[in-house]
Parts: sequence; C-alpha cells; structure tokens
Amino acid sequence: MSSHGDPIPMTSSACGPLSGVADVPGDKSISHRSLILGAMCVGETTIAGLLEGQDVLDTGAAMRAFGAEVTDQGGGNWSVRGVGVGGFAEPDQVIDCGNSGTGVRLIMGAMATSPISATFTGDASLNGRPMARVTDPLALFGCQAVGRAGGRLPMTLVGAAEPVPVRYVVPVPSAQVKSAVLLAGLNAPGQTVVIEAEATRDHTERMLAGFGAEISVVETDSGREITLTGQPELRAQHIEVPRDPSSAAFPVCAALIVPGSDVLVPGIGLNPTRAGLFTTLREMGADLTFENERVEGGEPVADLRARYSPDLKGIEVPPDRAASMIDEYPVLSVVAAFADGDTVMRGVKELRVKESDRIEAMASGLRANGVEVEDGPDWWIVTGRGQRGVPGGAVCASHLDHRIAMSFLILGMRSETPVKVDDGGPIATSFPIFEPLMQRLGAKVMRDQV
Ligand code: S3P
Repeated sequence: MSSHGDPIPMTSSACGPLSGVADVPGDKSISHRSLILGAMCVGETTIAGLLEGQDVLDTGAAMRAFGAEVTDQGGGNWSVRGVGVGGFAEPDQVIDCGNSGTGVRLIMGAMATSPISATFTGDASLNGRPMARVTDPLALFGCQAVGRAGGRLPMTLVGAAEPVPVRYVVPVPSAQVKSAVLLAGLNAPGQTVVIEAEATRDHTERMLAGFGAEISVVETDSGREITLTGQPELRAQHIEVPRDPSSAAFPVCAALIVPGSDVLVPGIGLNPTRAGLFTTLREMGADLTFENERVEGGEPVADLRARYSPDLKGIEVPPDRAASMIDEYPVLSVVAAFADGDTVMRGVKELRVKESDRIEAMASGLRANGVEVEDGPDWWIVTGRGQRGVPGGAVCASHLDHRIAMSFLILGMRSETPVKVDDGGPIATSFPIFEPLMQRLGAKVMRDQV
C-alpha cells in the first residue's frame, strides 16, 4: 500500500548516459521546521522553495489545525501567520502526519508545553515507529501521553499546563528527539538544556537563532550542549529553503554508476551535519565536485557535479559519520553493489527504526537482485560486484519507504535485467518529481501499466 492511495508498481531499466541539470526540491528537514517555527511566531513568515511533498503538506495541515494560517502562494512560495509561542489552539480533529516521523515528533514537541490535548496518527509505517523516544523527555516538562503498546501511534498528548524547563541527554543520535525537546523548551520558563553525544543535523538550532531565540551551543566532554532560554518572542522571517542533499543523493549516485553520465545538481544544502554521503562517495573514488560554493540563508550551499566513476571501490564507512548521512545508507548500498570489494557500514542501528527497517529492506532486495549482503543488529556489509555487474531482475518491496523505493529504482538503471518496486507511491512524500526529473536526465524509470 502506498501512504495515500493504491500501490504504484514501477520499473527501472538500464539506460544510456544520464546528463543535464537536476533541480531537486527543497530540503525536507528545513521545510518542516519553517512551517512549525513560522506557526510559533507572531507575524507573517514567508518561505521560498518549500518542499511540496506529502510529508511537509501534512505538517502544514497540522499547523492550520493548531491555529496558524498557512497559505500556498504558488511556485513554491508559502506564508505562515503564526500564533506566537504558547499560542497553539486545541485541534478539533485527529492530526494525521501520514508517513512523517519528523512531522509528528517535532509537532508533539511544539505542543507539549501548551495546555491543550491533541491526538496523532499516521500511516501503517508511522504507526509502527517508536514514539517513547520523544514522549519520555516531553514527560519531564509535564506533558502526558497515552498511545498503543510499545509507545506507538495513534497517541494522545496532554500538554503541560505549568511546564518546567528540563536538562536532557539524548540517548540515541536523533535530530528529531533533540528538536522535539528544544521546541517544547520554547514555552517553558527558564533554560532548557539538551546534550547530544553525537552531532546530528542542526537546522533547529540554526533556525531558532534566526527567529530570534536565545540559544547557545558549546562542545563539552559529553558532547554538544545546547541551551535555550524559554518564552522568547520569535520574530517572523523570510526563509529560503536550500535544495535537499538527501534527494540530490539519488541523481548523484545514479550518475556515478551509469556509464558516460555527467549530471549537475545545483543549489544543494551542504550543512556538514548532512553531507557525510558525499565525503564517503569521494573516498570510494567517485568523480564528484562541488562548484560555486556559497552561503544562502545561513546554510552552506554548492552545485554538485557527478560524473560516471568506473573505478569505485568498497570502503569502511567510519561509524562516527553515520549521523551525517543516516538517510543515505540505502542509496549508498546501491553504489556499493557496483564497487569493487566490501563496503562496511557499522554503528547504524537507527536504520532499523526509520520509515522501514532499512537494513532489512535493502539487504533482502539487494540479495534478490544478485548482490551479497551480510547484516547484524547495527551493521551491514555489501560485497560489491565490480566488473561482474549486478544481475537485477527482482521485484523489491518498498515497505512504505520512499528512500527504499528510489534506491531500488537507481539499482535498475545499471542492472542487467530491469528492477521493479512493488510501490513507488511513497516517493511523493519527499521527492514528488523524482520520476520526471530522472526521465529528463535519460533514465528509463516508469510506472507499470496495471
Ligand atoms: C530528521 C532527522 C532524522 C532523519 C529524518 C529527518 C529531521 O531522523 O532520518 O529523515 O529532520 O530531524 P532521526 O532523528 O530519527 O535520526
């Protein structure tokens, strides 16, 4: 099942060189945060380049349910008239966050310190994902949560009427957990402190500072310590959303494995907490260059140029790089299948609790297509086939996971026999123009006639 409708089976076949310019959509993480923070200030925030994927649209609808005015101005431009910190109204309907863990976890944080209740649900993927990692720290503020067994959605949160600030050491490397705590801290008096042992994406910290909150970050022996002073008056902003490096990963990786390719992906956000894949690909021998490096809207940005790289070799990916490329392991495993030797990925337990168990989903699909994969609780190893090529020919399950669907479609672009996915519908959550964009570059990726 796709997240919103009937399954959309898709097939991808070997193609000639990929070439041209790939204009990928806006960053998903920054898009969610733009809508949520816009809803938490007084005045009108304007957003250019918002990702109009289903995940972000669901967050926009949720912000309306909490009382903000969210308007599509056309052409990727949106505006949000916020209600101010602590100004959320109680929604009169269940909040459906669809497929989005980021959406639901950040929104839970944003409402946890207001005296209102809200009930959250999602699709089958989201309703299977752990929420205690967020509701545990929110309980410290005084917020109560009741959900299904194992801390699963659907779940009702009763926000704290008299919130207290917290000091919280994030037990798993998760920007969603960190962000939920910071957003809750906005409406608690005094200082909320969050400590993360491993640096995760820092868009929330950067954007809170941009919106006028008092926030500081210091590196300590126990990690990054973030201190936020509660109850600020956030100032409405204009936000230019950089293009998503996690979406850029797909045309970039396709260009590296399809002979003769040369693809330019302009305006990609290259925040160091997000750019681990590109470092890894270069270590594997990828012909990948950053052109026109610049800073836009407080985020480093560059144009990426990826060319066919015939001599890719397997490497050991340093575990301390995992957080900066956590969403890119599925497509990295596809590149690894075409490299020479083993690509070893350790310290990646978090992959098992994403939109799907991404190690299991990729390992079983790669094996079905003739690639050897070994895996354990927090590691996996892909044995690259190098010059022998990848047989392909299998139908892969996407498990309601956009990145699994797109990764297998990239695999098919260089496999000997076409690769199918049972449902490409979830691709619309993060990269709604994936299919026409890849086709314009020369890929043979299409929906099956059903
Ligand atoms: C995200 C954080 C990551 C990432 C997700 C987006 C965010 O999740 O996988 O796609 O925007 O904060 P975790 O916080 O679970 O690592």
